[in-house]
Amino acid sequence: MRRRLTLVLVLALGIGVAAGGAVAEPLDVAVGKALFDRVWVPSPASTRGSDGLGPLHSARSCAACHAGGGGSKTAAQSDGSLDPSELVVRLGTDAGPGDPVYGLQIQRMGTAQVAPEATVTVDLAPSPSPDLGPTIIGIRLDALAYGPLDARTRIEARRAPSLRGIGWLAQIPQATLEAMADPEDRNGDGVSGRLGNGRFGWKAMEPTVVTQTEAALVTDLGLSTPHRPSHAGDCTRGEAACMTAPHGNDGHAEGVEIPSDALRALVAYVAALPAPRSSADADGSALFAKTGCAACHVPALNSAGGRPVPAFTDLLLHDLGPGLAGGFPEGTASPSEWRTAPLWGLGVGVRRGDRFLHDARAATVDEAIRWHGGEAASARARYLALTPNEATRLLAYLEGL
Ligand code: HEC
Ligand code: HEC
Repeated sequence: MRRRLTLVLVLALGIGVAAGGAVAEPLDVAVGKALFDRVWVPSPASTRGSDGLGPLHSARSCAACHAGGGGSKTAAQSDGSLDPSELVVRLGTDAGPGDPVYGLQIQRMGTAQVAPEATVTVDLAPSPSPDLGPTIIGIRLDALAYGPLDARTRIEARRAPSLRGIGWLAQIPQATLEAMADPEDRNGDGVSGRLGNGRFGWKAMEPTVVTQTEAALVTDLGLSTPHRPSHAGDCTRGEAACMTAPHGNDGHAEGVEIPSDALRALVAYVAALPAPRSSADADGSALFAKTGCAACHVPALNSAGGRPVPAFTDLLLHDLGPGLAGGFPEGTASPSEWRTAPLWGLGVGVRRGDRFLHDARAATVDEAIRWHGGEAASARARYLALTPNEATRLLAYLEGL
């Protein structure tokens, strides 16, 4: 009976084989999916398994930003603004991430006793460099509940990337990334590529799916974890009500809101999300390489088990120039360095009406390419020099990924 139930769950989830070719523990994956979709509530609550949210938080579930394991649904609303609920607003200074009072991220939500940090409006503003792209993202923070931001603090919007195939990205050996990095551009192709602190996130900050998941639990949901046991998430001492509010550390196993078995299940689910499937197109692929895109968006890397992972990324940081620069450095990444965005699943995003680039400023794939500068300036120039026919073919290829 038990075996039968497991089998039904596997079929229902469409998940049988986890990244790396190992068979995922199906019950872990099923439990992990339930945790990913769970709408958390503040402590104390009668539902002990679902409490611990916040006090300050950006959403109440992983699925709020990554529905079905995908990324932000960042289509423009009817008034032209973007729904702020699926973007996060990060804070930082020249010294790195964080504001002394507001912490790493603006938390748009608070529990009953704790005021949300601010309301966020995300507008599309005319671009200061129209040759790069027509619009940029304008962030407005109102009703800042804990006083003004520090004078040195700058803000950056970040879109939630799709998580599909992430378990495969985790399987690419670190030595492969080290071999591709060319920080001094010794081969003289104008493209350097540097190792980030890790490989996940827009700045390649987190090294593993586990650390990335713990960072999301703490920073986005305000849930404590085995390696990040503070109960107050992204709260700071400048936010006294948040530090002293009731929390779930006392009532749970291991003295944290998300004990290790729950974390393991959540990671198993995320790592087992199936990779996007691309359609084969030899001509499109040749055009992609000829235009210089493949220098960073490496079509496939091999997993430790020798399986090709067609994610179209080198997982390295590249300087894409001042047009795309954010407000502050993070880890080894300067403001203008970003991890090469994986392009698998791009077509799914196009069909959903998503926007592109780290802060969703680009409405189309064409706009996303035009924003490339810095190390990608010559690829951009080659793209702009394609015949209309070739450009159409390249875009069709990208939309088939
Ligand atoms: C408020 C929206 C939001 C919520 C809620 C959220 N995320 Fe994310 N997620 C993001 C954003 C934004 C990024 C990119 C972060 C960055 O680069 O700074 C991200 C990145 C990630 C990544 C790395 C993806 C990549 O391509 O490298 C993983 C994995 C992830 N999130 C998992 C989770 C899990 C698991 C949860 C629930 C515990 C969660 N996220 C909750 C917005 C969210
Ligand atoms: C020097 C390295 C480099 C080269 C060359 C390069 N890219 Fe990129 N690409 C990046 C990085 C880094 C990002 C993420 C930038 C950001 O979000 O701000 C990116 C983002 C993108 C995105 C947006 C993906 C998303 O999910 O938002 C698309 C589309 C894209 N590149 C296509 C191309 C094409 C097509 C070419 C060739 C004409 C190309 N790139 C050349 C590094 C490069």
